[in-house]
Amino acid sequence: MKAVVFESYGQPDVLKIKEIEKPAVSDDGVLVRVHASSINVAEWYGMTGLPIARILGGGLVKPKDMRLGADFAGVVESVGKDVRDFKRGDEVFGGRSGAYAEYVSVKNAIVLKPANVTMEEAASVPTAGITALQGLRDHGKIQPGQKVLINGASGGVGTFAIQIAKAFGADVTAVCSPKNVEHARRLGADHVIDYTKDDFTRNGQKYDLLFNVNGGRSWSEYKRALKPDATFVLVGGPKTRLIGPVSLLVKTRIAMLGASQKFVFFTAKFNRADMQVLKELIESGKVKPFVEKAYPMTRITDAMQHLGNGHAQGKIVVTMG
Ligand SMILES: NC(=O)c1ccc[n+]([C@@H]2O[C@H](COP(=O)([O-])OP(=O)(O)OC[C@H]3O[C@@H](n4cnc5c(N)ncnc54)[C@H](OP(=O)(O)O)[C@@H]3O)[C@@H](O)[C@H]2O)c1
Repeated sequence: MKAVVFESYGQPDVLKIKEIEKPAVSDDGVLVRVHASSINVAEWYGMTGLPIARILGGGLVKPKDMRLGADFAGVVESVGKDVRDFKRGDEVFGGRSGAYAEYVSVKNAIVLKPANVTMEEAASVPTAGITALQGLRDHGKIQPGQKVLINGASGGVGTFAIQIAKAFGADVTAVCSPKNVEHARRLGADHVIDYTKDDFTRNGQKYDLLFNVNGGRSWSEYKRALKPDATFVLVGGPKTRLIGPVSLLVKTRIAMLGASQKFVFFTAKFNRADMQVLKELIESGKVKPFVEKAYPMTRITDAMQHLGNGHAQGKIVVTMG
């Protein structure tokens, strides 16, 4: 099968399309013909060989696993003999490493695709949607009526976070650049702050939950926007060359020692139950994926560069057809 591979770390031109072995399907697994996948910051870090990712098992000198991608939407090609939930021909979406490929073999994080979205829209959901869901619900303990601020609200994670926070009944403030202000409103944000004109840490507002997807401010600045019993969820921050968002994590963690607010950093994890929650949110119309652009697999370098520029609106998708 054709797949996107990278044999050395670097900028998007290290990505090549090659023939690799089609994955086998286990007795309890499902083989999916991938229609579309989407790009996430994790793939950017994997491709560029962020030093901390290399140390944590990515491969010190060259990538251990030359495949990339995590999100997929496609059609079930075959199922293992023990599988009862899926059959050949089902339209599905989910998460599995190596998803920039014509096929993935999956066991856990896979559910039926909602009928009210396209394959491209479904492929945009898994990583960003799971991150927003787990970050707000499990780590932020979001409650109806809470004042929630989403910093970095217009990219992949942020556009899902606005809609999921609204689905939980929160009063949502989105922080984004001027070109995304109207978009954030259309997604349901009650208040939108253009970060080039207004500073959410200096406008006197205080929040119950600050969901930091992007933007790296100091703890003394964040603190001004937090109620004493607030929760600060660090999802991500500006890209740095050595340790990525970990620098913001370490700085904030140290600076806030002794503070009354709760601090959480987490790594989102794929699982079928949360994919099912996202499917139901989409079917109910409470969440609508937003794809800024879909590129064919042959233009994977352009797709990756688009994400790497740091100002994607919603999600960037790659189609495998
Ligand atoms: N913890 C986890 O498990 C997990 C999982 C997934 C992602 N992440 C992290 O989450 C972060 C965002 O991921 P993503 O997929 O949403 O990225 P993305 O699609 O590239 O979106 C990033 C967004 O950040 C906004 N932005 C840029 N500079 C900003 C600033 N100074 N203030 C506020 N917003 C700013 C941009 O919007 P404008 O154009 O409007 O500026 C852009 O739309 C990354 O750091 C990633 O590593 C963490």
